[in-house]
Amino acid sequence: MATSLKLGLAGFGNVGKGTYDVLKRNKNLIADRTGTDIEVKRVVVRNPQRVRPLVDADIPVTSDWRDIVNDPEVNVVVELIGGIEPAKTLILESIAKGKHVVTANKALLAECGNEIFEAAQKAGVNVAFEAAVAGSIPIVKSVREGLAADDIEWIAGIINGTCNFILSTMRDTGRTFSDVLEEAQKLGYAEADPTFDIEGIDTAHKIMLLSAIAFGIPVNMDKVHIEGISKLDPKDIKYAEELGYRIKLLGITKKSDKGIEVRVHPSLVPNKKLLANVEGAMNAVVVKADAAESSLYYGKGAGGEPTASAVIADLVDIARTAEVHASQRPKMPTVSADKNVNHWTDFGDIVTSYYLRIPVEDKPGVLADITRIIADNGVSIEQMIQKEAPTKEKGTEVILLSHSAKEADIQRAIRTMQALASVRGPIVLLRMEELN
Ligand code: HSE
Repeated sequence: MATSLKLGLAGFGNVGKGTYDVLKRNKNLIADRTGTDIEVKRVVVRNPQRVRPLVDADIPVTSDWRDIVNDPEVNVVVELIGGIEPAKTLILESIAKGKHVVTANKALLAECGNEIFEAAQKAGVNVAFEAAVAGSIPIVKSVREGLAADDIEWIAGIINGTCNFILSTMRDTGRTFSDVLEEAQKLGYAEADPTFDIEGIDTAHKIMLLSAIAFGIPVNMDKVHIEGISKLDPKDIKYAEELGYRIKLLGITKKSDKGIEVRVHPSLVPNKKLLANVEGAMNAVVVKADAAESSLYYGKGAGGEPTASAVIADLVDIARTAEVHASQRPKMPTVSADKNVNHWTDFGDIVTSYYLRIPVEDKPGVLADITRIIADNGVSIEQMIQKEAPTKEKGTEVILLSHSAKEADIQRAIRTMQALASVRGPIVLLRMEELN
């Protein structure tokens, strides 16, 4: 056996248990395939009593993460605790002791990745995080290695299963957001506190990490524009469907001559695109690169064993490159990037097309006012339709689809329209992504 990994496993929730179970079940298969003997040396959890019966008797299960750091035999730390602390200190102290790290912790890496990757580079160890983005889908490896030849232009992904389940169910049933969220919680898709998922923060962490890998930039969550799905009206899902689009929560990162943009928001996607047909809790990512052109990656973005599959693939990678000089291992994001350069596109400078729903009074000249304001702001209209017959009391709603326009221009147009006496309520803005 060329290499042997001795793991300190921190955390034994769904993913920790999945990792332990798959390593045990597929031990011989992994060893035959890779020449790697992977042994769980110790487990650290908040409640050892709960986990003790789930782990072989000869493996210590304790509650202090320092037990992993201080065990000289442990050469790889698998951090599956989540959150910022104590995960961050565990990882930094493990790196300082020359241990490699595998983590599924997107929040930690998106917030504090620069410090962690820099420490790892200095110590000559790996911090691998395939499991942090889109669970079982090998998207980190695909972008970093499969597309190593390419200049990547953009990445767009459905990378939060909870939101995709909610949006798919809202579209199928016409039910409201809060009603479907409750069902998602009952089914175990959504957490008791679903804020990170539904407000787009989890998606933002993941797309920030993909952006750092694709474009070699430091992570910086302050530069990510984030909108979630909690305010989506079923009416817009229905109108989008009638116009040939589905609404998906997309994480998008794109490189242009203005810099790099990273944004998360509900997006209208043409229903002929494969991404529009990713339903339920599944994840999918499209990468547009100059040589490979467009490639699509699809799979389970969460769950114990699907995520464990990514954790173990990282372990195998670490074993295979353990004897290789650190400079020859796959580069970690951000470390080589010049931190003084402003890499980022102002959100007002992004260019996309837009869906507007404008509640208006039914009287002569209203549509003329709207089209004039849109034109005055340099935005070109692709389609404009009135969805319902107007009534004197309720007025009507106008749906407007724009051609590509600058975010700042459409926002200025909305502010001006919103001030018209004939506009009777808040204008709804959604962005459209043609993914060409
Ligand atoms: N909560 C995430 C999701 C899975 O719903 O996709 C873990 O990142």
